Formats: sequence, structure tokens, C-alpha cells
Amino acid sequence: MDAVTASEPTPTQVRLRPEIAALPPYRQGRPAPADGFKLSSNENPWPPLEAVRRAVADAAGEVNRYPDATALSLRERLADRYGVGVDEVLVGAGSVSLLAQFILAACAPGDEVVYSWRSFEAYPGLVTVAGATSVQVPNRADHGHDLDAMAEAVTEHTRVIIVCSPNNPTGVPVTAEGFERFMARVPEDRLVLLDEAYAEFVRDEASVVGGSLIGRYPNLVLLRTFSKAYGLAGVRVGYAIGPVPILDAARTTAIPLGVTAVATAGALAALEPANEAELLQRVDALAARRDALRAALVDQGWAVPAAQGNFVWLPTGERTAEVADRLFEAGVVARAFPGDGIRVSVGEEASVDVLLRVLKGLV
Ligand SMILES: Cc1ncc(COP(=O)(O)O)c(C=O)c1O
Repeated sequence: MDAVTASEPTPTQVRLRPEIAALPPYRQGRPAPADGFKLSSNENPWPPLEAVRRAVADAAGEVNRYPDATALSLRERLADRYGVGVDEVLVGAGSVSLLAQFILAACAPGDEVVYSWRSFEAYPGLVTVAGATSVQVPNRADHGHDLDAMAEAVTEHTRVIIVCSPNNPTGVPVTAEGFERFMARVPEDRLVLLDEAYAEFVRDEASVVGGSLIGRYPNLVLLRTFSKAYGLAGVRVGYAIGPVPILDAARTTAIPLGVTAVATAGALAALEPANEAELLQRVDALAARRDALRAALVDQGWAVPAAQGNFVWLPTGERTAEVADRLFEAGVVARAFPGDGIRVSVGEEASVDVLLRVLKGLV
């Protein structure tokens, strides 16, 4: 059944938290037709490398056992890579789980979480579930974070500030210089989460690079994922790098044993040098495809903002539903944000021509 057209459920009398009951339930987007393109979730279009698939299959042979609760082998590998201690790495069931853990660790009811908007659509729900309050700071006209306004939005109630670079869904990165100025304005007792889910796709050298800031700030945590560049969205694994006491607090708010052995095996295999080199070649191809797609769309007259993730943003405003429908009729499922715009993932090579053909007539 297509979840989008599912009928309304019968109301319940069970006493639920009203703010939770009011949240829109998660709805998976329309499935793509068999010969179409699913460009709605910023997934990696390639199937896993054979070596990664084998590692996952081998781990599946032991799923009668619980996983290692802290994914130590993966933390060791990542700690080595970043030159940090193993306790400065926290592995989670995707970086969205880690976001939830950090917000829960820092926020009590009434506390505030500041983030740019529009940004990752999971942020508002995660904040509400924690009982905290969202403070959304509008993006600048170029669809990037307004870091000055975000710094000004920090009050005595603020516990967490989320910076998303490049920003999902608009694609605009935060500059290194802008981020450092921002960090200088944020009190050191407020947690800053730098969400770098798309870091590997960034080619703009002025962009912030979280890895170069490790150890610089006592209140900064980096969030990374294996879902996008490493093509492991389906097994759910991401990680955080940051100061030990903050990571320890986030560890205690996790649902235990959320990171499976299958996920850890997949991530470790993806980090094997030969495998990683091949995966990063795919990332190169996607970054080049993105740049070519954006350039062609700009030529057509679309005001596509800077795009540094594996997606482009079409600011379609009131025409969003119409443009999304035209794409869907052509076999392309994109992520539409009604009244605002459409995010289109950079996917299979053949999808680019279809996109350009459909969008040409709709500028
Ligand atoms: C900005 C951002 N952060 C975090 C995530 C979560 O990724 P995952 O939970 O798959 O690691 C996403 C996924 O779309 C994202 O766009």
C-alpha cells in the first residue's frame, strides 16, 4: 500500500503526550516505479561493494548473538583515523540516533535547541520528543545558515545548537571562517553539534571541515554517517567525535545495543583501504554529477543554491506540488516540501537527462 494515500487511522482515547500525538507521523515517500528513479532520500545509488556485502553476510551468520554494545572495533578504527582516544568516538544506529541521544543528554523540558530552518526534517521531531523547544532561525536569502542570527538566538535556555553543513535540504555549506566566528560567540557551556552527514561530497575549499577542529572546542561534537558516501543507509551506522564527558552522557541516553554487528561489519569493511578508495571514487563521480546537474539547471534558469551534498534544491515555492507531480509522472520521486521547494538527490547517471528534460519546461 502507498503510505501517502493510506486512510486516516481511527482516533484513540489513550492518553498520549499531546505534543507527541500532534507530530506528523513518519511517512515514507511515494515508491519509485520499477523503471524510475528514487531521488528522495539522498541515498547512494550504487549497491554495496562485493567485499562489503560479504562482510555483512558473514556477520549475519552470527545474529543469534547480541552485538558488542559499544562497537569497540569500529571505534578503535575511527579513533585511529582521527587521532583521538577510543572514548572520544561514539557509534550510533545512524547519526539520527546520535542526534536524539545528544539532545536527550543536554535538554530538559523547556530547554531550547537552536537550528537553522529549513534544515534536516528530523530536527523538529527529535527536539519535541526530548520535551525541549525548537528555536528555528531562518536561512539567509542564499539558503545558507545565518550564523550571526543563530548566535544571537542563544539564550540562557539554550542547551544545544545544531549546525548542518552542507545544509540538508538546501545544499549550502557553512564556511570554516564563519563557523569559527560563530564558535567564538557561543558560550562554552552550550553544546554545538556539527552535523556533517554529507561531508565527503564537499568540494568547496572554504567549507568548514569538522575533522580539523577536533580538540579546539570543549563544547563541539561532530556527527558523521556511513549512510551517504559509504552507501550503508540500510544497516544504520554513524558516529560522533567529541569530548569524553559529553559522549558519555549521550551514551547513557541511547537505547542499548542499537548498533548491530551487521552494521559494524559493514562499516569496518567500507573503511578497508581498497574498499574505501573505490567508494570515494564513487563519491567523486557523484560530486562531479552534482556540479554538472546544478550548472545545467542554472543554465535553464533555476535559482539552485550552492550544492555541496549529494542533492540539489529547487526553490519552487507555491509551485512545489506541481513540479513534484511532473517529476513523478516522468518516473522521478523527489522530496517535496510543500510551499517551499524540492530536494532532488544526485542518483543514477541516467536520471540526470530525465531531470533536465522535465525541469526545462517548468522554470
Ligand atoms: C543532515 C542529516 N543528518 C543526519 C542524517 C541521518 O543519517 P543517518 O541516520 O542515516 O546516519 C541525515 C539523513 O538524511 C541528514 O540529512
